[in-house]
Amino acid sequence: MNLTNKVVAITGGGQGLGRAMAVYLAKKGAKIAVIDIDQEHMEETCRLAAEAGGEAASFVCNVAEETQVEETFSAIVQQMGGLHGLVNNAGILRDGLMVKAKDGVISKMSLAHWQAVIDVNLTGVFLCGREAAVHMIEGGEGGCIINISSISRAGNMGQSNYSAAKAGGASLAVVWAKELARYGIRANAIAPGFIATDMTAGMKPEALEKMTAGIPAKRMGQPEEIAHTVAYLLENDYVSGRVVEVDGGLRL
Ligand SMILES: NC(=O)c1ccc[n+]([C@@H]2O[C@H](COP(=O)([O-])OP(=O)(O)OC[C@H]3O[C@@H](n4cnc5c(N)ncnc54)[C@H](O)[C@@H]3O)[C@@H](O)[C@H]2O)c1
Repeated sequence: MNLTNKVVAITGGGQGLGRAMAVYLAKKGAKIAVIDIDQEHMEETCRLAAEAGGEAASFVCNVAEETQVEETFSAIVQQMGGLHGLVNNAGILRDGLMVKAKDGVISKMSLAHWQAVIDVNLTGVFLCGREAAVHMIEGGEGGCIINISSISRAGNMGQSNYSAAKAGGASLAVVWAKELARYGIRANAIAPGFIATDMTAGMKPEALEKMTAGIPAKRMGQPEEIAHTVAYLLENDYVSGRVVEVDGGLRL
């Protein structure tokens, strides 16, 4: 796909990896539909995308809410003239051991924490992927969907909810690659390792230091390194149904 004047929607585009993707793709001439629950953050993303020479518009939407997602994707197509790419990037963390015990059980991961992560990181990916596919099929120009999974999809301690959702996102990309190829739509996933954003800045410093020491590259990734991979997957028309690992060589 040549990105010039193509409409690419990015969920969770208000900050972090989503913002880096918006700016990177705007530089390549894409028109960015930024989707997030945080209007103020989205406005800053749109400003930076415009500064990079591109065009961007913001759409307030909770990706876990079916009606909001349906309305948002219709609005994007109407306002921006089509839809060619989607990056399912919105995500949250609610980490904790499933069961914590010391001389007896101390705590359990709450159903609320389980459900919140599944709602945003898995149901949100399904809903946005589904609506994007509807509009891409109707548009008749094909398209490309990218799910932002995680190295945690392999199963990370303290992340029952997150690991399950991220494994699901990777698997959905494979399903969609098979189901949607007949319409000229590709689907892939990216599994980032530890990337320097607010999400990882929230980790305890000791945990962060220990984790960085274990990365063969001996550093965290930069948001632009994920944005670069997003551009590659959008642009290369023969890559589909794959999970690209961008993790400095780390294995969990
Ligand atoms: N940072 C990392 O090291 C890392 C590693 C692997 C995977 N990831 C994944 O990459 C994605 C982006 O991570 P990040 O570090 O930029 O996170 P971040 O917390 O900095 O940004 C996430 C964005 O998603 C938005 N968001 C949250 N819930 C939403 C909802 N219900 N609807 C719409 N938007 C919502 C937030 O407002 C925020 O703007 C996430 O899916 C995350 O799981 C990140």
